[in-house]
Amino acid sequence: MESTSLLKPDSRVIMISGASRGIGAAIAKKLMTEGYRLSLGVRSPEALQASFNQQQLSETLICPFEAQDPATAYTWVKETHRTYGRIDGLINNAGILRQVNFETGDESDLDAMWAINVKAPFRLTKLCLPYLREVSNGRIINIASTDGKRYRDTVSVGYTMVKHALVAMSHATRFAGWDDGVRVTALCPGAVDTDLVANIPGVTPAGERLSPHLVAAMVSTVLSLPNTASIAELPINTRLESSL
Ligand SMILES: NC(=O)c1ccc[n+]([C@@H]2O[C@H](COP(=O)([O-])OP(=O)(O)OC[C@H]3O[C@@H](n4cnc5c(N)ncnc54)[C@H](OP(=O)(O)O)[C@@H]3O)[C@@H](O)[C@H]2O)c1
Repeated sequence: MESTSLLKPDSRVIMISGASRGIGAAIAKKLMTEGYRLSLGVRSPEALQASFNQQQLSETLICPFEAQDPATAYTWVKETHRTYGRIDGLINNAGILRQVNFETGDESDLDAMWAINVKAPFRLTKLCLPYLREVSNGRIINIASTDGKRYRDTVSVGYTMVKHALVAMSHATRFAGWDDGVRVTALCPGAVDTDLVANIPGVTPAGERLSPHLVAAMVSTVLSLPNTASIAELPINTRLESSL
């Protein structure tokens, strides 16, 4: 019979993409303090010096990860498994927001959002699933968005499209991993106070945004849930909207 108790960090190995700043860095710090073992995939390992202290960095595996370069995904996953001997969780966090609408923006920006926000999580999911199946309570958390749940007319059409795709992929992954204990959550925050939304017109005002720390706390909660308590989608809104 499956346990219904909360899972403990117990040195579980969690991979986080885009941990250099913003939400990814907040998740990494939270999970470090809780006793997880981390593998951070970042474009520029030197950039971590600004967000983490030396002790945190020395206890953490840091690998180059460029979402648009499939070889780095492959090497990051292999290196994580070689170092720790297991992979318990993957957090697909790295992402970009570009303004692509019917009258403005460029298809190259749309291509970049597909590559970074959808294809890279798909690739990492494929590479990690065999290892996540081995541990009997593997976890994937995809950092999607409320823009993956509905269309709001001040938002980039392109960003809304790719975040919907990421939510769809999260559901597909639930089916792929369920029988082997892999549980998948599409975490869907509203505006979070990071660089991503710093200059976006129409976005929730700074004082009303979610903090990255609050999103990290939600990730920690989701990771602690047993196989018998699966959250498929977790919207966290800053504003009142029907059903969200
Ligand atoms: N902020 C929000 O309002 C909000 C709301 C809902 C969902 N989200 C989602 O949350 C995730 C994190 O966003 P954030 O707000 O923390 O944004 P952020 O502060 O701009 O950080 C983005 C992260 O993604 C990494 N990244 C960007 N392009 C990359 C690439 N080509 N390869 C590898 N890493 C790349 C960045 O690395 P570098 O430091 O190297 O650039 C950085 O670590 C994104 O998926 C975003 O869509 C954000």
